[in-house]
Amino acid sequence: MFADRVLSGMRPTGSLHLGHYHGVLKNWVEMQQEFECLFFVADWHALTTHYDTPQVIEQNVWDMVIDWLAAGVDPARATLFIQSRVPEHAELHLLLSMITPLGWLERVPTYKDQQEKLSEKDLSTYGFLGYPLLQSADILIYRATQVPVGEDQVPHIEFTREMARRFNHIYGREPGFEEKAEAAVKKLGSKKARLYNELRVRFQEQGDGEALESAKSLLDEQQSLSHGDRERLFGYLEGGGKMILSEPEAMLTAASKMPGLDGQKMSKSYNNTITLREDEASVTKKIRTMPTDPARVRRTDHGTPEKCPVWQLHLVYSNEETKQWVRQGCTTAGIGCIECKQPVIAAVLAEQEPMRERAQQYLDDPTLVRNIIADGCEKARKLAGETMRDVREAMGLSYS
Ligand code: TRP
Ligand code: SF4
Repeated sequence: MFADRVLSGMRPTGSLHLGHYHGVLKNWVEMQQEFECLFFVADWHALTTHYDTPQVIEQNVWDMVIDWLAAGVDPARATLFIQSRVPEHAELHLLLSMITPLGWLERVPTYKDQQEKLSEKDLSTYGFLGYPLLQSADILIYRATQVPVGEDQVPHIEFTREMARRFNHIYGREPGFEEKAEAAVKKLGSKKARLYNELRVRFQEQGDGEALESAKSLLDEQQSLSHGDRERLFGYLEGGGKMILSEPEAMLTAASKMPGLDGQKMSKSYNNTITLREDEASVTKKIRTMPTDPARVRRTDHGTPEKCPVWQLHLVYSNEETKQWVRQGCTTAGIGCIECKQPVIAAVLAEQEPMRERAQQYLDDPTLVRNIIADGCEKARKLAGETMRDVREAMGLSYS
């Protein structure tokens, strides 16, 4: 019922690396061409686990925004903002907490998993338990339809959908709903009202899915309906109440196959990363000193690409011809490892070049970044405010 709106957030807990680029940012850059996109820095989420190192968060927020811009996220297309600058997220989190069963939160798999994984931290906190609920507030406050996330986040999106349903179920039945819905039908004009009613009956009495779809597109075409009436008509159609919060869908980003310098997945915790804007000398050195097939001790030893982390990088960066050259040269000891690494070094540097360039203007003039974020926060607050008005009203909190 709402136009497509994509929303995603990232926690500012460390500098971004090429794994983030291949796994997440490239995807954001593509999506901004097609959809309305909102991307935000989840600084409150970072505090749920890093509450004792606030300095880390502060530095990472701005670095991360520069990384996004460097990767090609375009502030003219996407809205970029910081979660804590849109305090409405906290308000919605609080209001949703009133109807959130504790068991739902305790059963979210990341709760126990992360507590075990980060066992050096005390995560038996109220804030950490509420992590998925805060995420739900992030999503629901924009009525986002699509949320690009990795596999690990799918339970959070499912939780969000359940929260939306629960909210609509409890608060969507405004007093006099039927009368208000019928009044809204009349506002469609007599011809469309008749069509709407016919389609509604066909769906409700015969379960005719096509009728439901036609009725929905009929409503989509009605420009002049108020937001409230539109919601009522959608709710009335399916026999429910007013739909105040809408259920988002997870948009699965293909798991990043980006290998790190040691052949394992690239990850800060494995200490095998190349950061997004790492300087050229350091990139070159890191790749030059990468481990290779352990069986290839001497230059004259034959190697097996499948046993070599450098080969993994060729799979990401090299064309068929180069890969053929590697396969041939490695297995016959025709090329040395340093030689083999050269095209990878060149490809990584070439990939990073436009990123370094784009970042430079923002490093030279940090107010540019501050302004982009200020703009984004303002836009986000406006959208968030619209949802909050409905939520407050539904929960008996509009006293004007
Ligand atoms: N939990 C997400 C992660 O760790 C970050 C996040 C916070 C998020 N709020 C969000 C992602 C809302 C998508 C939508 O990756
Ligand atoms: Fe790895 Fe290339 Fe050396 Fe073969 S030649 S072991 S693929 S670095």
